[in-house]
Amino acid sequence: MNWSHFFTSSVGKKIIMACSGLFLIAFLLVHAGLNACIWAFDGGEMFNKAGHFMGSTVVMRILEIGLFVFFIIHIVQGVVMELQNRSKRGSKGYAVALGNRGSKWYSRSMAILGLLILLFLIVHLGHFWIPNRSNQGWLLGEEINLFKEMKEVFSNPVWVLLYTVGVIALFYHLSHGFQSAFRTLGLTNHKYINIIQTVGLIYNVVICIAFIMMPISFYFGWVQ
Ligand code: HEM
Repeated sequence: MNWSHFFTSSVGKKIIMACSGLFLIAFLLVHAGLNACIWAFDGGEMFNKAGHFMGSTVVMRILEIGLFVFFIIHIVQGVVMELQNRSKRGSKGYAVALGNRGSKWYSRSMAILGLLILLFLIVHLGHFWIPNRSNQGWLLGEEINLFKEMKEVFSNPVWVLLYTVGVIALFYHLSHGFQSAFRTLGLTNHKYINIIQTVGLIYNVVICIAFIMMPISFYFGWVQ
């Protein structure tokens, strides 16, 4: 099998989804960890220092390009797979209706959950990343005060609600995605399945609670 066959074969596409997904999972851990500095209760000093480190070095800016490439690969490949699955199934649906016994609802709704996360992401980048990078002039110029920006954005209950819905969609997307990625890569034999499921659940719960608590903490003035 040559490379062009690999990328268009169904196994190749699943491997690409799994690898890009695992990269994004790693990014979310770093992102939540850095953002957790808002709970240092120091007026955002530590958080802004962490943000400055992430946004002001050439290495980080190159990694950032990689991050966006992975996001795009994951989204495009996900859309292609969903459309192909739909056209294969046609309008007939499955021959045997398995109902809820075949799979969980969120496993069957990965595309719609992904779309919700994408909408959240567009709004989210518009809130922080775009103002910050345009202030920096795309090179390594002066950054905005991201802590102050968060305080302002999350004083609006509409954004608090939207972020909560976005992160709930992320929770269900990852509930399927984490295990599915390991299965695709052949890492879920019966010896490791319990460990992978437990690690996936702990990761998912911790990350999503942390993300949901950020807008809520600002809204209720628990951090200022
Ligand atoms: C819900 C709580 C969240 C808060 C408060 C938050 C906050 C922030 C802030 C302040 C930045 C700006 C960083 C910068 O410009 O240097 C940022 C960047 C970013 N966030 Fe979030 N974020 C949250 C959740 C998420 C989630 C769930 C995702 C992904 C699904 C995400 C994806 C991103 C991406 C891709 C960037 C740009 C990364 C970069 O700077 O290169 N964020 N976020």
